[in-house]
Amino acid sequence: MKNILIIGATSAIAQHTARLYAQSGCRMFLVGRREEALKLLTDDLKARGAVDIDYLDVDLVRLEEHEKVIETAAGFLGNIDITLLAHGILGDQSEEERDFSKAMECLNVNCISYLSLLSILADVCEKQKNGTIAVVSSVAGDRGRQSNYIYGTAKGAVSIYLQGLRNRLYKHGVNVLTIKPGFVDTPMTSGFEKGMLWVGPERIARGIVKAVAKEKDVVYLPWFWQWIMLVIKLIPEPVFKRMNL
Ligand SMILES: NC(=O)c1ccc[n+]([C@@H]2O[C@H](COP(=O)([O-])OP(=O)(O)OC[C@H]3O[C@@H](n4cnc5c(N)ncnc54)[C@H](OP(=O)(O)O)[C@@H]3O)[C@@H](O)[C@H]2O)c1
Repeated sequence: MKNILIIGATSAIAQHTARLYAQSGCRMFLVGRREEALKLLTDDLKARGAVDIDYLDVDLVRLEEHEKVIETAAGFLGNIDITLLAHGILGDQSEEERDFSKAMECLNVNCISYLSLLSILADVCEKQKNGTIAVVSSVAGDRGRQSNYIYGTAKGAVSIYLQGLRNRLYKHGVNVLTIKPGFVDTPMTSGFEKGMLWVGPERIARGIVKAVAKEKDVVYLPWFWQWIMLVIKLIPEPVFKRMNL
């Protein structure tokens, strides 16, 4: 039976992933910032087959709480087999350009809180000598675009950090998975018009579970984003800067 820690557990992508794991009868520790939502999710996951489950409510920008988060999770789960990090905010690029405190908010939630949690978790997994750390980054971190480069900076920094962490932890038997979803229909993107490239969070959840099981390093979800991003990354900068993206 797997022991699973989910941070940002109330996010749509995390909830759907948790449901898939619950069906296989695992033990879970959930972390999010809304107690009521965590309680509802806990009941739902128990009904779906989770064997033993607990939660902790914390605002994840409070870095001083992070030691307690990982300690409490490890105390409940014992060996942490799989960790998923999935909290985040999209932010408003136009506001963030005008008001740097807004940009800091986006960077704190999407990047700094991740790096802080990962630095603590890395030590735990290094000592365990096993486990998978799966982290939701984004295709937005692959190349800066005028429409979302603050969010993209946060995600890009997380992706680079994960490359280094993977390199560090490989020899200790720990797998680090970078998850790069494209456009996903969740509360975060509720204000967007949806088109052909959009998918639901359940499809991303299936991709996450599969990538964890296969011990992948990086996964684009759905798969076709790997090819879209390859083309986007190949566009020469003198051309790219003239494009309206
Ligand atoms: N949707 C997309 O198109 C897309 C694409 C690529 C990557 N992603 C990434 O996927 C992950 C999951 O997002 P989602 O699409 O599933 O969106 P979502 O349903 O809106 O989930 C975002 C979650 O982050 C939590 N959160 C935000 N700030 C927090 C804080 N300070 N402390 C604790 N929790 C906080 C929210 O908590 P509350 O419920 O309390 O607000 C919510 O549960 C995020 O990392 C996002 O950047 C999403």
